[in-house]
Amino acid sequence: MRMRVTLILFILTVAASVAAQERCLICHAKPGFSRVEETGRKISLFIDTTIIGHSVHAGKLCTDCHVDVTTIPHARELAPVNCRRCHYSGNPVGAPQGELYDQYAQSVHGQEVAGGNPKAPICQDCHGSHDIKSHDSPDSRMAKMNRPKTCGGCHIEIYATYRESVHGVALLRDSVMDSPDCASCHGEHNIGRPTDTTSQVSPAHVSQTCGECHGPMGVASKYGIKSDRTTTFEDSFHGIAHQMENRTVANCASCHGFHDIRPQDDPKSSINTANIVTTCGQSNCHPEASVQFASGKIHVDPHNKESGLVYYITKFFTILTIGTLAGLFVFIVLDLFRRAQRSRSGK
Ligand code: HEC
Ligand code: HEC
Ligand code: HEC
Ligand code: HEC
Ligand code: HEC
Ligand code: HEC
Ligand code: HEC
Ligand code: HEC
Repeated sequence: MRMRVTLILFILTVAASVAAQERCLICHAKPGFSRVEETGRKISLFIDTTIIGHSVHAGKLCTDCHVDVTTIPHARELAPVNCRRCHYSGNPVGAPQGELYDQYAQSVHGQEVAGGNPKAPICQDCHGSHDIKSHDSPDSRMAKMNRPKTCGGCHIEIYATYRESVHGVALLRDSVMDSPDCASCHGEHNIGRPTDTTSQVSPAHVSQTCGECHGPMGVASKYGIKSDRTTTFEDSFHGIAHQMENRTVANCASCHGFHDIRPQDDPKSSINTANIVTTCGQSNCHPEASVQFASGKIHVDPHNKESGLVYYITKFFTILTIGTLAGLFVFIVLDLFRRAQRSRSGK
């Protein structure tokens, strides 16, 4: 008996929610259904349910997201959908959860939104609304290939610069998936200002961020690029000062730029021989830099023959050190031997 009541209740609930969904569609499924803004601009209010049906939220009801539509006709002004109703750690509905999403509140965007900046992105500005796809779908707005365009919708000039950089060309033109998009350098939900010391792009962390790919374990070596860029930097004057917590000294981005990074043979590259004097000569670096000064090699591996004089000087000192130590060792052994002989003959 109880079983039957539960079943009837269940059917009624389903029927009621289907009815609610259909109620929305009475108006919103009409092609051309729209409203006209005061400026004369037409805003479409037509909802193509197949788009929602092909999204990760297929099966969700209109009112699961538009919770403030409780009566028909409904209020003209509705609140933006709050994705955090479902997307929080410990949610019972099966939405992906974890620290990753909770980080948004502390990110520069989350803080700007909390501070009332209407231009900063909420979840739907990055992910979309009815068309949200799984993270591994190439159609997702946050898929690697599409991220620069999505972030670039607001950061327009940076997008234009990035697109022409070695990384932008490699990713967007040549589909090199190992090349960094905005999130590879900035993070996903934890994006911070460069001045925030915990940010991945702050002077304290830039060399680590570039080093993910340009260090000994990085992917850049697959593309014929030397993988010693972080180790040679760490051994340089700049790198040593950096390890001693000096944050005004040059890091990767000071010399290479960040959104406009180009290979050395590109005339627009900051490290092209035509521009290197200007790069070293930045007012807060070496304003007195000359051609002579700037011709010094930066990434020098003293154990590689290509490093020329540095290699031979390193070799010379290595041989000198080993030679001196070996001589000393022989001297000690001979001395011990003589002492032993002397003490035996003295007996
Ligand atoms: C009787 C027709 C009708 C029905 C039924 C209806 N709506 Fe609407 N809806 C409208 C109209 C008209 C507008 C435009 C309001 C305006 O002038 O800005 C609108 C706008 C909206 C908007 C956009 C609001 C904005 O700020 O731009 C949402 C979201 C919405 N409706 C959701 C729903 C949902 C969910 C349902 C079902 C529970 C529903 N509507 C049922 C007529 C309807
Ligand atoms: C996964 C959550 C979700 C579901 C489910 C959902 N919507 Fe939306 N809808 C959004 C978001 C996000 C927006 C963008 C505006 C905003 O942020 O509130 C939006 C916008 C709208 C708009 C404004 C016009 C537009 O396209 O931007 C209408 C009308 C609307 N939804 C109706 C519906 C109807 C009808 C259904 C059910 C068939 C539905 N929505 C289901 C999240 C959802
Ligand atoms: C500045 C853009 C941005 C904003 C704002 C943003 N996200 Fe994301 N989100 C990303 C990026 C980048 C990824 C990683 C790419 C991917 O997995 O699609 C991601 C991934 C996700 C994923 C899928 C992760 C997975 O692998 O399962 C979910 C779910 C998600 N975000 C939810 C949210 C929610 C909820 C909010 C609002 C609290 C939000 N996002 C705000 C950029 C953003
Ligand atoms: C009614 C609860 C609910 C609301 C509201 C909701 N989601 Fe979801 N979302 C889910 C569930 C459940 C899943 C998991 C779907 C699956 O794996 O089949 C999901 C999956 C996702 C994914 C895909 C994660 C992946 O595995 O790649 C993204 C991205 C996402 N949601 C973003 C959003 C955004 C942005 C909003 C706000 C516009 C939102 N969601 C609103 C419940 C919700
Ligand atoms: C809806 C528009 C919008 C989208 C989409 C967006 N941002 Fe932003 N972003 C902003 C706004 C607004 C600020 C705050 C600007 C300010 O106060 O300097 C900001 C700030 C930032 C900052 C800090 C800027 C500074 O000068 O300190 C970074 C870094 C950033 N965004 C990166 C990204 C990345 C990466 C993405 C994509 C994953 C992205 N943004 C997507 C609007 C957006
Ligand atoms: C190769 C790594 C890298 C990539 C790729 C990258 N950035 Fe940056 N970005 C940086 C670094 C490093 C800084 C900090 C520079 C500084 O110290 O001022 C920065 C600074 C920023 C800032 C704040 C400073 C400013 O110039 O306004 C924003 C906003 C930003 N990036 C957005 C983006 C967006 C959007 C994309 C994708 C189109 C992107 N970045 C791609 C490394 C990168
Ligand atoms: C996600 C991995 C990744 C990150 C992070 C990354 N790079 Fe790259 N970088 C690459 C790849 C891959 C290429 C080769 C692209 C191509 O031409 O196919 C490249 C190319 C370059 C080149 C051009 C080399 C040449 O002469 O052809 C320079 C210079 C460079 N990166 C510097 C940097 C700096 C500086 C940073 C940090 C601000 C950085 N990269 C961050 C992967 C990365
Ligand atoms: C003081 C300036 C300076 C700093 C700091 C610096 N570089 Fe360089 N980098 C150069 C110059 C100059 C060249 C070209 C000549 C050479 O290879 O030494 C270069 C070359 C490169 C190349 C191209 C190598 C190739 O095989 O084509 C990459 C990649 C690179 N640097 C990455 C980095 C990374 C990553 C960092 C930080 C860990 C960094 N650089 C720090 C000045 C600098």
